[in-house]
Amino acid sequence: MTATRIDGKAFAATVREKVATHVTRLKESHSITPGLAVVLVGEDPASQVYVRAKGKQTVEVGMNSFEHKLEADTSQADLLALIDQLNSDPSVHGILVQLPLPAHLDEALVINAIDPAKDVDGFHISNVGLLGTGQKSMVPCTPLGCLMLLRDQLGSLSGKSAVVIGRSNIVGKPMAQLLLGDSCTVTIAHSRTQDLAAVVAQADIVVAAVGRPEMVKGDWIKPGATVIDVGINRIDAPERGTNEDGTTKTRLVGDVDFASVAAVAGGVTPVPGGVGPMTIACLLANTVTACCRAHD
Ligand code: GUN
Repeated sequence: MTATRIDGKAFAATVREKVATHVTRLKESHSITPGLAVVLVGEDPASQVYVRAKGKQTVEVGMNSFEHKLEADTSQADLLALIDQLNSDPSVHGILVQLPLPAHLDEALVINAIDPAKDVDGFHISNVGLLGTGQKSMVPCTPLGCLMLLRDQLGSLSGKSAVVIGRSNIVGKPMAQLLLGDSCTVTIAHSRTQDLAAVVAQADIVVAAVGRPEMVKGDWIKPGATVIDVGINRIDAPERGTNEDGTTKTRLVGDVDFASVAAVAGGVTPVPGGVGPMTIACLLANTVTACCRAHD
């Protein structure tokens, strides 16, 4: 391995420490405690894990955590009523509705019902527009975490060639906007891109967010490039044996084939322990930002 292993877990701990210091100052000097409300509809197991982790870390940095768990068959009207109530609650500075929502709910309508000033996910259409036009906005947490790791690793990103693989609203598109904001030359690749390997091969920075296990291979990568792996994929790991119920054990992998990429790249994030911890740390940071802006 020649690449630096970019330690998102350690970096996220430093972000959380800074957030905790800021929270203490807000409490002591202004008697304000930032509050984050997380809304979970239904019982998607992965979402339950994420929501639990968000709540735990919110409390650990000294903020108030308000969890709202709703039945899977909650009506759109009831969900919108809860969002209205959170919008007008002065103790709630950030609101996050965990996605995906059950199919009967209109995701765009629900997200756009959140007060943009409390939209700590940065998914509201007005925050998307502000980011796209280079104005002050709430920035989506996963791309923000990736940008922090890239700046820490490389210093200035100006003039670098960046390829983002994936065009989702949550990661790919805002990631491209952030890289453009840092003066990168940005390409967004996706499932229909022709000769993806050749596109990736000219990049100084690769951000993989496609949800395809270990798709990005070492022989695609320009020597010395920095590779950020946003993927979280659970795959069968028969080498680990079987569970008590006879099913095959699993392991987490990213969208990047870590071993082959690490032999060529200058730096690469591992999965787990790379981008994942940064997402929640940035959510906490966005909540403090929302709180400060509310009391400006
Ligand atoms: N589901 C997967 N990632 C996210 C995220 O960053 N925010 C929300 N609200 N839901 C998600």
